[in-house]
Amino acid sequence: MDKNLISLVSNKSRGAEAFRTLRTNIQYSSLDEKMRVIVITSSSPSEGKSTVISNLASSMAQAGKKVLLIDCDFRRPTVHKKFGIPNSKGLANIIIGENKIEECLKSTEIKNLYILTCGTLPPNPSELLGSKAMTKYLNEFKEIFDVVLIDAPPVLAVTDAQILSVNADGTLLVASYGKTEKKAIIKSKEMLDKVGSKLIGVVLNMVPSKANEYYYSKYYGYYDKE
Ligand SMILES: Nc1ncnc2c1ncn2[C@@H]1O[C@H](COP(=O)(O)OP(=O)(O)OP(=O)(O)O)[C@@H](O)[C@H]1O
Ligand SMILES: [Mg+2]
Repeated sequence: MDKNLISLVSNKSRGAEAFRTLRTNIQYSSLDEKMRVIVITSSSPSEGKSTVISNLASSMAQAGKKVLLIDCDFRRPTVHKKFGIPNSKGLANIIIGENKIEECLKSTEIKNLYILTCGTLPPNPSELLGSKAMTKYLNEFKEIFDVVLIDAPPVLAVTDAQILSVNADGTLLVASYGKTEKKAIIKSKEMLDKVGSKLIGVVLNMVPSKANEYYYSKYYGYYDKE
């Protein structure tokens, strides 16, 4: 299992505490609508999307929620690696009608946490993610799980994150400390606004370890910092 799955390693670590805070902030980010389906993306590759969503999923499951984590990053799927599970039979196989949901869902060491890997990589990920079948299955997942977390590719690179955001209740943007440029975050927000997605916040990842490793802020708070 990935060493960065900190919420699994020590409940008392600062990282685990940061994810409990993130979990609570998401819960309170929208009092009128429930945050049941959340997409995670970033402006560019390697800013920590898969690490953050895997920790968030673990943290939510540990709080007693029945959580489904879906790897929808067909371009660079890594969730299976983080949890040490195979990427055979996953979302793509369900959408094309090759397998049933129950044949593809993978349980984890963490009670209440289930994972759906990408499965067989398709030649046309955007089409697959925007298909009617995807919307139908997402609705089925919502019936079975309390929370559905979706790992998406970077929003400035391909349209997949925008497509996925349309069917989600909210989107979280991950930014990497000292690396992600402010203009990239603003552009990402514009892209998400374009499809009517609700940006629920920005997770500032890879903050040097003397401060918190993960930091969550409302995006407008982030803009305030000139
Ligand atoms: N807070 C952190 N502290 C230390 N290492 C981290 C942290 N977050 C992520 N990493 C490491 O950085 C690398 C990239 O992280 P991750 O795979 O989560 O990014 P990603 O945004 O999902 O990348 P991709 O665009 O390829 O999907 C991984 O090796 C991961 O273990
Ligand atoms: Mg990733």
